[in-house]
Amino acid sequence: MTFTLKKVIPWGRNFDEYRAMFNLKEEDLGKRFLGCSDGPASFNSTMHHRGGDVISVDPLYYFSADEIRNQVDEAHTDIMEQCRQHANEMVWTFFHSIEELEQIRKATTNEFLSDYETGLREGRYINASLPNLPFEAQTFDIALCSNFLFCYSEHFSEDFHIRSIKELCRLAPEVRIFPLNEPGSQKSRYLDSVLEQLKGDGFTLNIQEVPYGFSQDNNKMLMIKTR
Ligand SMILES: C[S@@+](CC[C@H](N)C(=O)[O-])C[C@H]1O[C@@H](n2cnc3c(N)ncnc32)[C@H](O)[C@@H]1O
Repeated sequence: MTFTLKKVIPWGRNFDEYRAMFNLKEEDLGKRFLGCSDGPASFNSTMHHRGGDVISVDPLYYFSADEIRNQVDEAHTDIMEQCRQHANEMVWTFFHSIEELEQIRKATTNEFLSDYETGLREGRYINASLPNLPFEAQTFDIALCSNFLFCYSEHFSEDFHIRSIKELCRLAPEVRIFPLNEPGSQKSRYLDSVLEQLKGDGFTLNIQEVPYGFSQDNNKMLMIKTR
């Protein structure tokens, strides 16, 4: 049995993980970011406290802080159980143990939730869903999307992927997506055809290895440039 995700789960990474997943350099951090599908990640909160500029979009932001806490707690039990079962197959280079991973996930959720209501009022957390996002063209410098597109290929169609990626390209000249595999570490069933179509539409594509990933060969990030 490999790792399975029966539905999209609210499971959030922190600032250091975002930097690693997206190969973000210090000079990138002054840019205007769209964090698409950020869920309960704490990238927005940490960036905000560092003076950075991030708007996160996710349908999760329909819910109150208490409701999100309950959803994350429910996901936590299932995911940590799967991590324990598959610990020997997982790559432990970014974090070094299940205990460390669990402690970081709890701290990440707490940081997100402590920022959430303020961020909602400030318009930094917006309830919106791919493939249509409520922004003017080129509102951002970089759009990030982690652990949603490609990762959940079992649940979303190829057409959804194409429309979503083009939507992100409408909003920013540079889009970064991580990872490119489905759970269990096989390449997304849509990756090759999506790349083919984007190339045909004139986008510049670059796949980079990043210093992050919990399974073998699942450390690739797609960078798309529109100009
Ligand atoms: C596994 S979480 C990833 C959170 C964060 N990006 C990270 O890497 O830590 C996936 C997120 O995708 C969000 N999601 C589900 N459907 C979506 C859609 N149609 N458009 C944008 N986000 C969606 C979920 O609500 C969830 O918060």
